[in-house]
Amino acid sequence: MSATDYAPVTRAFAPDALGTTVRLRGWVLRTRSSGGILFLLLRDRTGIVQVTGRRDELGDDAFTAAEHAQIEGSLAVEGTVVEDRRAPDGREVRAKRIDVIDAGEPFPIFTDQTEEFLLDQRHLAIRSQENVAIFRVKAETLRAFREFFDREEIVEMTPPILTGNAAEGGAEAFRFDYFGRPGYLSQTAQLYLEALLFPHERVYALTPSFRAEKSRTPRHLTEFLNLEVELAWCDLEGLIDFIERMTVDVLHAVAERRPKELQALGRPPQELLAIRAPFDRLRYADAIDRLQKLGFHVDFGSDLGTAEERALTLESTTPLFVTHYPRALKAFYMLQSRDDPRTVEATDLLGPEGYGEIVGASCRETDIARLKERLGQIGANTEEYEWYLDLRRHGNIPHAGFGLGVERLIRWMLRREHIRDATPFPRTPSRNTP
Ligand code: 4AD
Ligand code: MG
Repeated sequence: MSATDYAPVTRAFAPDALGTTVRLRGWVLRTRSSGGILFLLLRDRTGIVQVTGRRDELGDDAFTAAEHAQIEGSLAVEGTVVEDRRAPDGREVRAKRIDVIDAGEPFPIFTDQTEEFLLDQRHLAIRSQENVAIFRVKAETLRAFREFFDREEIVEMTPPILTGNAAEGGAEAFRFDYFGRPGYLSQTAQLYLEALLFPHERVYALTPSFRAEKSRTPRHLTEFLNLEVELAWCDLEGLIDFIERMTVDVLHAVAERRPKELQALGRPPQELLAIRAPFDRLRYADAIDRLQKLGFHVDFGSDLGTAEERALTLESTTPLFVTHYPRALKAFYMLQSRDDPRTVEATDLLGPEGYGEIVGASCRETDIARLKERLGQIGANTEEYEWYLDLRRHGNIPHAGFGLGVERLIRWMLRREHIRDATPFPRTPSRNTP
């Protein structure tokens, strides 16, 4: 039988499906039988439908086989769509035939298991209805970004993952031997996007970034999806405006297209629709003032960690742009503010309600001497960056860009406690399997 002989299970809920015969296939969510009648919930990519079958109609062998199918066993069903007020969606399929494709072994996942066990079983746990909803929302989010970039005429690029530079600082790069030379897993696509900006002017890339940070926090992964954009002729105002428009656009698109999933995950779509521009803005120096008043022991030059970011956003429901960080705290490529040499033309977008950094953004330094000065300060080998410095030697222009942590965004959108929920196979310092 070819794929076209089968309908998605939600076909059963179409207005014109009542009374027709459908062929469905999928996996068992639950089964039970009583008094010669089998009840099963069949799931496929589109949803869940209740199927019932009678022993006297299916025949003993088929009935017994179906009865013994385990949770997540796979089945094909042929039956009639009927109304049934007791069924979850008011319809059910009365099976004329059930073929067990794979009865399956007992499914190891059930309720009240530990987080560690579920992570060990992640290859199976990702089948849960909750995880299905999370990853549909994530896919919809990526689609919304791509559609926004298409409308803005931003061109998708495919930078490398194997690199020879540790662009965000050597200490946190995964280093390996690349045929006798140092190699690094990409920490950012930014330097390549900056190169690609000259022929294309507006570029983006969606690539994994790797950070060898031993941070065991609810917002760090060692591998995450970095959505990076680089814009020619852009200053800090333009950059903030772009990030704001993009974020609102994506949140609204997801709210409109995935209301059921959002609702099921405890995030009413109206909450996302209520997030609008303009977002709040705060200069780093004013953030320090505010934190001091809250009792934090911080001064100009202190890094804003999880606790500080949390304190700044705990009370708000809109994201917050923190701007003009100290130059010494930030990456070598950020543009030194010409009116205040202590700061850079940079901004981090912090998620509200204490979620913290979601986007890291900056204008890029155009001055070779200042770039070399910063590379020296961080102990980088300037020679490895010669190709990057070349970009300042051939048609140097003002430009800016950012990276958005996709799992950070999903964590906040879905108000998840831990970022690992936002990725199917989380990579953390203590885990790289399954
Ligand atoms: O702030 P980051 O380090 O900035 C860059 O990578 C720039 N080169 C981006 C650019 O301008 N093209 O990382 C960007 C975003 C952060 O704002 C954060 O949301 C996320 O990536 N991120 C992480 N997400 C999960 N786990 C980690 N360990 C992360 N580190 C950063
Ligand atoms: Mg950052």
